[in-house]
Amino acid sequence: MKISRRSLLKMGAASATAVAVPAVSATQDAAAGASAPAARPPVTSKLSFSVNGKLQHLELDTRTTLLDALREHLHLTGTKKGCDHGQCGACTVIVGGRRINSCLTLAVMQQGASVTTIEGLGTRSDLHPMQAAFVKHDGYQCGYCTPGQICSAVAVLDEIRRGIPSHVSADLNARPQATAAEVRERMSGNICRCGAYSNIAVAIAEVAGGQA
Ligand code: FES
Ligand code: FES
Repeated sequence: MKISRRSLLKMGAASATAVAVPAVSATQDAAAGASAPAARPPVTSKLSFSVNGKLQHLELDTRTTLLDALREHLHLTGTKKGCDHGQCGACTVIVGGRRINSCLTLAVMQQGASVTTIEGLGTRSDLHPMQAAFVKHDGYQCGYCTPGQICSAVAVLDEIRRGIPSHVSADLNARPQATAAEVRERMSGNICRCGAYSNIAVAIAEVAGGQA
């Protein structure tokens, strides 16, 4: 008998499942069912906040992150979920002028806040200068990290403009400048798996030069 590759795979999967699932008697099953706690409905909370200048009212499971509220409830999918653990910066948004990792913030903590996502920075026909610089200098490859990079870069230049020092600022009392070292340090939480860092740095430097 000729066995196709597909039926061979199916047979393999079936036998693996048979080995992996131990036999459970009907009595054990009933006992487990009797002692299992009843599932409780999620605790929800109402939330009102501004997103890209528009007031939004949501009622969310209190465990919902800001990232999931934006993507799954408001359908603003420009903000990306990379690691979901605060390690990659793909989910960076600007809240009250400061950049945050939206995957590390619960949405209910943003009651009354003003959130800006990549969709709120510019439009296709009227790009934010940072968006235009990324396009001009090819500051991306796959583009997955790009919304977070751009939101972060906008906030970084604002931090520098407001005189906030960083780990690499030589003089904490002097006004920081948008040097390559300052920008790279401040952007270090935004990971680009495609390695587009050089072009990203050029794009940010161009915008920083224009602001100086
Ligand atoms: Fe939030 Fe990676 S998805 S830091
Ligand atoms: Fe692909 Fe940055 S452009 S991850």
